[in-house]
Amino acid sequence: MNLEYRKLTLDDFDAVAALDEMVEGELPNPERAAYWRDNAFEFDRSMAAFDEGQLVGQSMTYSLGISVPGGSIVPCAGISWIGVLPTHRRRGIMRAMMRWQIDDIHERGEPLAALYASQAPIYGRFGYGMSHFQEKWEIDADNSAFEHEPDPAGQIRFVEYEEAAATFKPVHEQAMRLFPGMVTRSDAFWTARLYDDGSVPSQPPKLFYVAYDAGAEIEGFAAYSIDNKWDDSLPRQVLTVKELIALSDRAYAGLWRFCLDVDLVSTVRAVRPPDEPLVWLLADQRAMKRDVADSMYLRVVDVPDALSACEYGTEDSMVIEVVDEFCPWNDGRFLLDAGPDGSACSPTTESPDVTMAARELGSLYLGGVNARSLHRAGRIEDHSGDGVARLDRMFRSTVSPWAHMAW
Ligand SMILES: CC(C)(COP(=O)(O)OP(=O)(O)OC[C@H]1O[C@@H](n2cnc3c(N)ncnc32)[C@H](O)[C@@H]1OP(=O)(O)O)[C@@H](O)C(=O)NCCC(=O)NCCS
Repeated sequence: MNLEYRKLTLDDFDAVAALDEMVEGELPNPERAAYWRDNAFEFDRSMAAFDEGQLVGQSMTYSLGISVPGGSIVPCAGISWIGVLPTHRRRGIMRAMMRWQIDDIHERGEPLAALYASQAPIYGRFGYGMSHFQEKWEIDADNSAFEHEPDPAGQIRFVEYEEAAATFKPVHEQAMRLFPGMVTRSDAFWTARLYDDGSVPSQPPKLFYVAYDAGAEIEGFAAYSIDNKWDDSLPRQVLTVKELIALSDRAYAGLWRFCLDVDLVSTVRAVRPPDEPLVWLLADQRAMKRDVADSMYLRVVDVPDALSACEYGTEDSMVIEVVDEFCPWNDGRFLLDAGPDGSACSPTTESPDVTMAARELGSLYLGGVNARSLHRAGRIEDHSGDGVARLDRMFRSTVSPWAHMAW
């Protein structure tokens, strides 16, 4: 093995697509690969391994922003395209690429990095902590009456694919201020989202798009697909909600009611954040089956910049000791001061209230994970006796963070 590491170029892309498909176990899809190559791939943020000139490992980072508690949008590196050929696995190729990548992210001044993991145990060693839960829902549409009918003021209307991105973008942007963990979307990502299959724009999209109007501006939208199933002569269609973003409770209830009432549909499926109110809208809570799974993994790349960008649940001041071998610039104690006029975070020599690894800080950061649970599992040390309870009061968000497969 004679490894060389370098950035990818346009000429490498056929090999990049082939490697990606090989490690993911997918059939080649040249049109899809060309879409990502031409519209979204950031060659300057790639790092790849070649063995005697053959591409054997690759990685790439998208330049994104993520919404954090309080509504700010913070620069966030979206790690993607990670793969190593089965012939070259477990020889440190991914580790070498992650090393280059995190140093590059740090030099660029992005305080956060995030990824979706193919397997949960891979990325904790690099400081990525599971920050989002998600739920897979299956709803019996025939048994989905609401406790109270939605506000009749709203109107649902279909939106053509050509208008969908422009119509929905302002809703997405406003929602980012309300919900932590949402990720910025370029035009290329909008196209991909609205095609649902990783984008093959020359084919007709497979989704339907609807907007909720109640006044001058739209208050929400949904995108869904329908699987046209029949059981002899009985309709058993499955409607899958791919996106549903609402800025008001009436839009939320109205959009769900619409999806549940589509004729011939007997089952509605969706992947959603854990604290959504749909289960409380339903008169029969057992009409909805819920399976919990992990979602996004987050890495705090720069502790002071990341922690001072959030709003906290309570005013407090505490010393957090971070253990971070992979990013030694983070390894140390930090005074987090959440005051009435904003938050500040800086290195300190004071004694710590709590100690945790960077991975656990990544889990806590967006407010979707309970510090007490991490403490009970031996992942956070409490030196002051009330440190974990104070962490929960500061970090725990009243809104679950969520970004369902944002890239
Ligand atoms: C996952 C994958 C990228 C790992 O690449 P690799 O070059 O074999 O990884 P490395 O040899 O650099 O391993 C680095 C560390 O991660 C660990 N690791 C690697 N793959 C792992 C896995 N699937 N589960 C748990 N740990 C794993 C290694 O044991 C090693 O640990 P250590 O350095 O602490 O001893 C590669 O196996 C692959 O492409 N798999 C299929 C596609 C995939 O899952 N891609 C990731 C998409 S998110």
